[in-house]
Amino acid sequence: MSDAFAREPRWDPRLFPPATRAPRAVQTARMLLDPQGYARSLRRRLGPVFSLRTFPYRGALVCAADAAANRVVLTDHERFTGGDAAALLAPAVGAGSLICTPPPLHLAHRKLLLPPFHGVRVARWAPRVRELVHTGLPALLSGDGVPVRPWAQRLTLDVILRVVFGLTDPARVATFRHALNAFVGMGNLAVLFLPEPLRRDLGPLSPGGRFHRLRATVVDLTREEIAARRAAPDRAHRDDVLSMLLDARDEHGAGLDDAQLLDELTGLVLAGYETTATTIAWTLHLLAHHPAARDDLIADLDAGSDRLLKATVKESGRLRPAVYNAMRTAAHDTELGGHPVPRHAFVAALFPLTHLDPGRWPDPDAFRPERHLGADPVPYSLTPFGGGVRRCIGVSLAQLEIETVLRELLAAAVPEPAGPLEPARLVSVMLVPARGGRVRLRARRPHGCPGRPPAPGSWSPPL
Ligand code: HEM
Repeated sequence: MSDAFAREPRWDPRLFPPATRAPRAVQTARMLLDPQGYARSLRRRLGPVFSLRTFPYRGALVCAADAAANRVVLTDHERFTGGDAAALLAPAVGAGSLICTPPPLHLAHRKLLLPPFHGVRVARWAPRVRELVHTGLPALLSGDGVPVRPWAQRLTLDVILRVVFGLTDPARVATFRHALNAFVGMGNLAVLFLPEPLRRDLGPLSPGGRFHRLRATVVDLTREEIAARRAAPDRAHRDDVLSMLLDARDEHGAGLDDAQLLDELTGLVLAGYETTATTIAWTLHLLAHHPAARDDLIADLDAGSDRLLKATVKESGRLRPAVYNAMRTAAHDTELGGHPVPRHAFVAALFPLTHLDPGRWPDPDAFRPERHLGADPVPYSLTPFGGGVRRCIGVSLAQLEIETVLRELLAAAVPEPAGPLEPARLVSVMLVPARGGRVRLRARRPHGCPGRPPAPGSWSPPL
């Protein structure tokens, strides 16, 4: 058990924000079955700051569900710190990855990792991303009633392998893809949420054993890439993240050793591809189910504008944020929204609730991209990428990928419903469409024709 879980205070209703009396098993099951509906019902009954008593927490997860509480959790780093709070994910992403690194080391590592993900640098990847989207598009267009998420996972994995490792050899990409799909697929990551004894490696057939073996394959492949790149004579001229990190130094001249690099790279790959694929799937699924918004977007894109494109991605991230929450721990006994929060308690900013706050978002359940065309939203009422010093470092890359897919796909086809609007399911920390985000794609022009040519400067880094 990690230190964060060992330190977690036990449940005491006097020390935590309000909770329901439902047993922990019932709360866990309801969250898994209907993560949005159940959390919303708790918010209605208990207010914008409440306690959720689910496994694997022994105490309770303190939840922030409106913009005011969201802002405090994400930005008051003296009271709510990150890193340890992600202890649950450490066995998957690596305890030394940025996601799991507490302050003060977090800031030093973040400074080393940020340059390759800066918007201007990411913009240089645009032609390669477009090329990968074009290569993948026929597979999507040839299906009838296809789930978008698996298709998008393949695409975003190819992108992240190129960006992070500079991989271009199809055989090597396929080896990585196979290893990562096995590791994150088939419910393997559910092991993270099992009680500690069941997470242990009790042989190859045990869930813990399977998890550790599949992760070891991913780690071995990453280790091979690091060794090969250290020996590569052309390293200084390469633009992938690994090459840049090998030579990156902080202000004291310190860089990352191989163990740190291994965790950082594994963390980047795992944080970067499923999240982006899930957002692509939700956006296309939502467009298919909202024909007026879809047709407006297609007309706007055809006219050479990307105003509605950016608004659509925001609206999809509002209604169906791919990442359910951002996690922190309370640095000391404190309060949130007028309720006590004990030291070391786990605290979650619940994006799906903040994003549906009727006080901030009129008619919150409606999919209306145009609501983002006017004034900026109230700060911290829309945070699909988190916020504060731990805000997602992959925002620019994710937006480049999502916008490129939408632009290219909508030039070639019109997404239509292939069944009812899918409910959201919680898979580790992600909110995914229950059936993969199925859409039917009606061709606008014969397959194989190039999509809409990119308007000059059509992808610009977000501010
Ligand atoms: C649509 C796609 C994505 C979404 C919705 C998303 C969302 C998030 C969220 C909510 C956080 C937590 C922020 C916080 O704690 O305040 C996060 C952190 C992070 N993300 Fe992303 N992400 C996406 C894509 C990416 C990509 C493409 C990469 C990199 C290749 C990436 C790398 C990271 C890293 C390294 C962190 C940890 C940052 C830190 O702790 O300092 N993400 N992301």
